[in-house]
Amino acid sequence: YDNELTYLTYKQDDSEEAFHQAYEEAVESVRADLGQSHPLKIDGEAVETGRTFTATSPGDLDLEIGEFTAGREQDVEAAVSAATAAAPAWEDRDVESRVQIFQDAADIMRDRKFELAAALSLENGKNRTEAMADVDEAIDFLDFYSSELERVDGYEFDTGEPTPGQHTTNLLRPYGVFGVISPFNFPMALFVGMSSGALVAGNTVVAKPASTTPLTANLFVDILHEAGLPEGVINLVTGSGSDVGQPIVEHEDVSGVAFTGSRDVGLRIQKTFMDLGKRGPVIAELGGKNPVIVSDTADVDDAVEGVKTGAFSFSGQKCSATSRVYVHEDVIDEFIDKLVAETEELTVGRATERDTFVSPLIDDSAVEYYQEITEQARSDGTVHIGGNVRTDGDLADGRFVEPTVVTDIPHDHELAREEHFLPFVTVHPVSDLDEGIEKSNDSEYGLCAGLFSQDEAEIERWFDEVESGMTYVNRTQSATTGALVQAQPFGGWKFSGTTGKFAGGYWYLQQFMREQSRTRVE
Ligand code: NAD
Ligand code: ALA
Repeated sequence: YDNELTYLTYKQDDSEEAFHQAYEEAVESVRADLGQSHPLKIDGEAVETGRTFTATSPGDLDLEIGEFTAGREQDVEAAVSAATAAAPAWEDRDVESRVQIFQDAADIMRDRKFELAAALSLENGKNRTEAMADVDEAIDFLDFYSSELERVDGYEFDTGEPTPGQHTTNLLRPYGVFGVISPFNFPMALFVGMSSGALVAGNTVVAKPASTTPLTANLFVDILHEAGLPEGVINLVTGSGSDVGQPIVEHEDVSGVAFTGSRDVGLRIQKTFMDLGKRGPVIAELGGKNPVIVSDTADVDDAVEGVKTGAFSFSGQKCSATSRVYVHEDVIDEFIDKLVAETEELTVGRATERDTFVSPLIDDSAVEYYQEITEQARSDGTVHIGGNVRTDGDLADGRFVEPTVVTDIPHDHELAREEHFLPFVTVHPVSDLDEGIEKSNDSEYGLCAGLFSQDEAEIERWFDEVESGMTYVNRTQSATTGALVQAQPFGGWKFSGTTGKFAGGYWYLQQFMREQSRTRVE
């Protein structure tokens, strides 16, 4: 099983220009097709509710992505009924034919990669390489989860004949209906990853994407149906968290929920399950406040490169974004100067422009939040670069802000503690690795962490002591973001996750199943 990052493959083959051309052609053709109406998809039928919402492109607010149907509680009810009715036959389906559907869906996505990446860029503002990586990750989830189910032969083991005449089979079985609720920032990868996890394990699904990114979810559900997924096995209800997400979570026939999103919503879902006495799992992947340590032994240029990419790719709108950096006091001045100089070179722009590194923010409230926190940074610390909303030229049509580097903020200040989901990084001096580790760990989150050091003893100690699900040493490609399915299973400790099992990892699917041991006397 190989991960294939499309952009890097073209780059290695020296055919970057072909990548750009294919993407740009796809943008033109997707753009020409935008603005359609998208009903809900329940039991294989298109369902209108009479209520709609419009999604617009964050980089060009005049560009209408489409009219999407706003679901209500009764639509969730219908979707859960369809999923409940479809569940027994889906569970009984043999492993081989279940696996085939996801492998076919992966093939369809591979064939339509550029179109899907273009749709994603226009919908949520991700630049071309990141949009393609999002689609690549979605394909990887389909490949990996389906190949896993095959590898373990559907999680069914013959345990033999413990007592003469008695024969036992031990198996994992699906729970029934799963709710899947996804965020805006990896609209393809996470929607696909959670849905396919639940489905491959044999559950049926009622899925709700973020209301800012309903197009990619619609495209994927159509692909699953094209690949042969039976009607009712996945049901798509678009709409708001309160009108659709909450009723999914509360529905008595929804046995489990796979959620990726903010800490507060994730914990609320977990609490709802407990309050309602629901016994199934809440698989919640939550936020991060990801620390990076730069030791005095580090290659400072490498550290600057890794932090810049970790903090500012997709404008910091990643759970894995680098957000606080603890730099040894002997190298901090050099680090800040170089980080500021590198940040100055980054192009803020529309997702579809070739040079864009820093893409737009997803909605107006993110822009307001950026203004709030940068104002606070100016009053309580030092803003070295950034801090402004961009309204020059074409940027006036979108939600563009500058990548921002801040110092002189105490480590326990809320700017260094809260997840912002913005291109905003704080840099703090530390006197040694111990202080860096102590400060890194002094957080309610534990998602991703990075270290730049050339001292083997420091590296080993850091791996052992840092409280984080994902740990990266000397990673210039990005200090904390960009995990690959199966190669780097992804998940969080502490308030960054609820189950401790990682997406794209070998234990992920098991969370969607419950165990049964079957003994019969023969
Ligand atoms: P969000 O929590 O605002 O929304 C996530 C989803 O939950 C959306 O579909 C939303 O409509 C829905 N929702 C909102 N209120 C709800 C409710 N009461 N009941 C049920 N559903 C509800 O998150 P977001 O802004 O879309 O995404 C950003 C967050 O996601 C960040 O905190 C980020 O760290 C996190 N995230 C985590 C991971 C990870 O793997 N750990 C990956 C990506 C994003
Ligand atoms: N795979 C994504 C990352 O690591 C979530 O940034």
